[in-house]
Amino acid sequence: MREFGYAIVDLLAEHFAGGRSERVGAKSDAAKLIPMFDCDPPESGRDPSELLSQLERDVIPNNLHVDHPRFFAFVPGPNNFVSVMADALAAGFNVFNGTWFGGSAAAAVELGVVRWLCRTCGFPNTAGGLFVSGGSMANLTALVAARHALLQDRTEGAIVYFSDQTHSSVERALRVIGFLPEQLRKLPSDERFQLSIETLRDAIKSDRAKSLRPFCVIANAGTTNTGSVDPLNELADLAAKEKLWLHVDGAFGAASILSERGRALLGGLKRADSISLDPHKWLFQSFECGCVLVRDVALLKSAFQITADYLRDVHRAAEQFNPCDHGVQLTRSFRALKVWLSLQTFGLAAFREAITRGFELAEIAERELRSREGWEILSPARMATVCFRFGKSDNVQTKLVDATMDDGYALLTSTTLRGAVALRLCTINPRTTDDDVIGTIDRLDKLARKL
Ligand SMILES: Cc1ncc(COP(=O)(O)O)c(C=O)c1O
Repeated sequence: MREFGYAIVDLLAEHFAGGRSERVGAKSDAAKLIPMFDCDPPESGRDPSELLSQLERDVIPNNLHVDHPRFFAFVPGPNNFVSVMADALAAGFNVFNGTWFGGSAAAAVELGVVRWLCRTCGFPNTAGGLFVSGGSMANLTALVAARHALLQDRTEGAIVYFSDQTHSSVERALRVIGFLPEQLRKLPSDERFQLSIETLRDAIKSDRAKSLRPFCVIANAGTTNTGSVDPLNELADLAAKEKLWLHVDGAFGAASILSERGRALLGGLKRADSISLDPHKWLFQSFECGCVLVRDVALLKSAFQITADYLRDVHRAAEQFNPCDHGVQLTRSFRALKVWLSLQTFGLAAFREAITRGFELAEIAERELRSREGWEILSPARMATVCFRFGKSDNVQTKLVDATMDDGYALLTSTTLRGAVALRLCTINPRTTDDDVIGTIDRLDKLARKL
């Protein structure tokens, strides 16, 4: 055990120490990779160190390293070593974090971290929440609470509103919980990629005129595409007036409220009925670590709690916090531990600084792009995200993504903004240096001119 464990710790320590020099990773051919693993396990066990070597050779290099300082694609996963060790502890002791009965200290840690997150977002002390796998599950969990609280689970004629910049997990969650496509209003965003109050007001009015039941607004606190934040205060006013549930998808951006830069953008977040927030994004935790926060935690509990004969000992003490009563999972891993342990180890100031760095890096990227000919900024640095393109051809942007992938120095991906293909950098990794950003733009510039 020790030999195997130390070998793994050494491998991880080397990875954390030397990340910058390696390639950003690779996306390998299916024809090469699938046959390597598409076989039955051996009858007799194999030597663990030989297996570790196989993983080092075949698995680790053949993924993208989302924690690499020059990984700017999608939403990076710049986790921290303490979080990794916490996961090892949680798995090693196989902590059961489903009930107070099975894991009272784990439940207490979770409660503590969730309550801190609630206070950080400005929620009152009626609030609570739950750690879940990620933003997708946080959105789903919040929408189940909304459906239960406002519709008593009867979705017929109920209408949900969100902008065309909203993450696809919201639409999927709504589908999973029984909403049909005709019950969803995906509203066009304005020139800043925000949901406009007028557009929303008109849509609600038109639905009421048809005797439909406007039910819920989903706002963004940092869209995946451009980092835009919907006008949360105005949306909260309208939601209150219309008696709608306001869910804020802050999976990407809400954690930035810890920093001054984020706080300035997230006024009104505290007025939401529920919030999704992903510690495995901008709070530097290992996957999977999402969190759902609900202004009135009693609504979350009444949406999910189901008692069972074999859980009678769990439910005897009604005042105890049973995570399983607040979400989909019964058996669940101890996700809160990594958040707690890394916050305690580094302290809040380090987190604030690391988040602020994300804002600054995107601004450096924007400045570098503006200083070079041929580059157009399609969405300025906002919430550590900047979108741009070289020339007018969509095909060139796609080719640039492939060229950076082949090159291996850095990675960025593309999206579509108002029908045009845009390149996008997301810069939330605090280990990224100014030179990493400048070097990436330099390489990109050379590749673009060659194309
Ligand atoms: C705004 C937003 N919401 C939801 C999600 C889904 O989160 P997850 O991938 O953790 O399920 C993402 C992921 O990038 C996101 O950016």
